[in-house]
Amino acid sequence: MTSASIAVVAGDGIGQEVMPAAIRCVDAVTAHYDVSLDWREYDWGSDFYRRTGAMMPVDGIDQLSKHDAIFLGAVGTPDIPDTETLWGLLIPIRREFQQYVNLRPARTLPGLTPVLRADQPIDMVIVRENNEGEYSEIGGRYARGTEAEAAIQEAVFTRTGITRVARFAADLAVTRRGSLTSATKSNGIVHTMPFWDEVVAGVVDEVAADHPGLTLRNVLVDALAAALVLRPWDFDVIVASNLLGDILSDLASAITGSIGVAPSANLNPPRRYPSMFEPVHGSAPDIAGQGIANPIGQIWSGALMLDHLGQPRAAAHLVAAFEQALADGVRTRDLGGTAGTEEFVTAVLANIDSVGPTLDAQQE
Ligand code: NAD
Ligand code: IPM
Ligand code: MN
Repeated sequence: MTSASIAVVAGDGIGQEVMPAAIRCVDAVTAHYDVSLDWREYDWGSDFYRRTGAMMPVDGIDQLSKHDAIFLGAVGTPDIPDTETLWGLLIPIRREFQQYVNLRPARTLPGLTPVLRADQPIDMVIVRENNEGEYSEIGGRYARGTEAEAAIQEAVFTRTGITRVARFAADLAVTRRGSLTSATKSNGIVHTMPFWDEVVAGVVDEVAADHPGLTLRNVLVDALAAALVLRPWDFDVIVASNLLGDILSDLASAITGSIGVAPSANLNPPRRYPSMFEPVHGSAPDIAGQGIANPIGQIWSGALMLDHLGQPRAAAHLVAAFEQALADGVRTRDLGGTAGTEEFVTAVLANIDSVGPTLDAQQE
């Protein structure tokens, strides 16, 4: 029996709804396998901030470092600035644990009619640089309240930072359809982007020496946004800087149906620190507390976590269970259905028992 210790930070808004939903699904699926997860909940987030003035305790990172993985819901609340909430919890976890890869799959799901025309199945993974770039800590607000007021941000791209994320993306592309797209903006006056292009090309040359099928396309991000809408099936792995990858991943998930379905894995190969699994969406204050949030992003993130913990069959089983619910027409409102979170989870739990044996038979 494998066991793993998971830090749970449900956080704010719909994080409080989709997290328990996903934990029930993950527990139900692991019961079929030789694995048990030991969940340890942390009540960190905006309520904790209201009580203590901080989003997590001073030794919060140290506490998280003792776990095998972190399962996070969402952070952010309308009455506290994001510069307090996100900058005090989510961003420090990604940074301190050097989770430099933010892996964000997006693909066609059964029974869903994409908002846009989709002639062919969509199956892409966005590999977002997650530690540096436009999200650097260098910058600030100056001369507040005066005529001279200004905000300045220095985007920091390092050879090490670009190389490691490009290598991860190229290696991933080799295991898929061999097509890597790099999001760039080297035509604008953005000094960092010609450097990004150069380093990515160098890494891809190295990887392609052993895998000649690997191809690289540099696509300007404005044109890439349009191409994602018009021909989303054309993309396999997309590597992008922190900010560009953030924007492209909401776009990619919306193209497949809703940002409520998108999962993500914040990884730090070679795994010196815990990785973090969380939906791409935020705390959705506009629907929080109504029981209507789509739990797929959180459940699918749970599947990415199982895969990461060395349980690919349990992960595939869980994905098959929520896909079957969709195929049966059980959908939350963001997908045009009428189901609430609870109804969707009930369908997933029933499918975990019914799709399990089929999946085992296929794999034998
Ligand atoms: P959001 O992702 O929370 O919501 C955008 C829209 O998508 C809303 O209309 C919402 O109702 C809908 N939506 C999102 N998830 C859904 C789900 N699971 N089911 C159904 N509908 C869903 O983005 P926002 O409104 O821009 O941000 C709200 C707060 O969340 C802000 O404070 C923001 O900074 C924060 N945020 C946090 C994270 C995170 O914790 N990882 C990610 C993004 C945004
Ligand atoms: C995401 C979010 C975060 C980001 C915000 C909330 C800081 O949008 O995970 O995509 O920009 O990384
Ligand atoms: Mn985002």
